Amino acid sequence: MLSDEVRQKLIQAAQEARQWAYAPYSGYTVGAALLTASGKVYDGVNVENAAYPTGICAERVAVFKAVSEGEREFDAIAVVTVNGGSPCGSCRQVLAEFGLDTIVLLANADGQLIHEMTVADLLPGAFRPQDLRPGDATR
Ligand code: THU
Repeated sequence: MLSDEVRQKLIQAAQEARQWAYAPYSGYTVGAALLTASGKVYDGVNVENAAYPTGICAERVAVFKAVSEGEREFDAIAVVTVNGGSPCGSCRQVLAEFGLDTIVLLANADGQLIHEMTVADLLPGAFRPQDLRPGDATR
């Protein structure tokens, strides 16, 4: 469980990051803030590209920033969009790689929490690292 204080802190960090989103094609700006088990917060924004598929979502930027600095355990991620939109399938898969219990907070542009769930809720039956090692399968 997250405290209200932590929820607010994460949503605010995602809201602040959102100003740096580079979304000239869709106009849909996204800010994310990822809380690591070690207590650090990594933010991320969506970064689009003229070659459309090359762009990347805010959630993955936040996860990749954190992982590239040695973090692999995540307690929660806040995502702020105009309407509290939900993470795409690729972002769900990337989050699932590092744990199904990570809490996902979806907030709107005013910072209002619209939905709260876990990665497991977002991606039932996720393909996970242990699926590559059938010998020690856990399900
Ligand atoms: N987007 C995200 O950043 N996160 C999501 O999970 C949903 C979609 C971005 C990708 C693209 O830049 C824009 O929102 C419209 O799809």
